[in-house]
Amino acid sequence: MNAVTILGSPRKDGNTARVLGWVEDELRTGGHGVERITIADHRIEGCRGCYTCQGVEDDPGCAETDDDAGMLFKKLLPSEPILIATPLFVWGYPGQLKLFLDRWFCLVKFHGFSEPISLARGKRIGLLVTAAGERRGNVDLLLPPFREMVNFLMARNAGELVIPRCTTPDALGKDVETRAREFARELVG
Ligand SMILES: Cc1cc2nc3c(=O)[nH]c(=O)nc-3n(C[C@H](O)[C@H](O)[C@H](O)COP(=O)(O)O)c2cc1C
Repeated sequence: MNAVTILGSPRKDGNTARVLGWVEDELRTGGHGVERITIADHRIEGCRGCYTCQGVEDDPGCAETDDDAGMLFKKLLPSEPILIATPLFVWGYPGQLKLFLDRWFCLVKFHGFSEPISLARGKRIGLLVTAAGERRGNVDLLLPPFREMVNFLMARNAGELVIPRCTTPDALGKDVETRAREFARELVG
């Protein structure tokens, strides 16, 4: 498979990047292609809420063409699995990543067609989250929006890896690396 991973942290060498690196290494060891999108390297505007995309059947069709989102969709759409790797920021996604995820709205066409059409139908999508705090009542809050988005896309939840109580990348233990590698195999299983 050819995976695309999305690093949503503004820190390119932080906790999320360290765990993601283990996942990517395991995917490559398993013979899979991996391309990483680092959100911090791209300019992504917010969704305008104009619904222009809803009139375009076989393409994202977003009216915002003056940023990198269209180019990133060209990488995402032929790829599988897609892994969203993110730190927890104020019980949600970092703003930079959220802007991009809002734009995925254009991948589902639910206006004017007899049945909704999804350009991501059946695609495996996974989530990796790191956080400083606990899982319960903290990271858990990010999981329902992720799952709803996967449902909305008519995609498939390929797995969720939650790494709570993070401090520094170097303090992430061997057990986290082992879990990251197991998770990589789950993503393509
Ligand atoms: C702006 C900001 C908001 C944060 N909000 C939370 C939070 O709500 N819950 C939590 O447990 N950790 C929170 N954290 C801590 C990060 O999620 C944690 O340190 C994470 O592992 C950082 O990943 P990174 O090094 O890849 O950026 C926050 C950190 C920042 C900078």
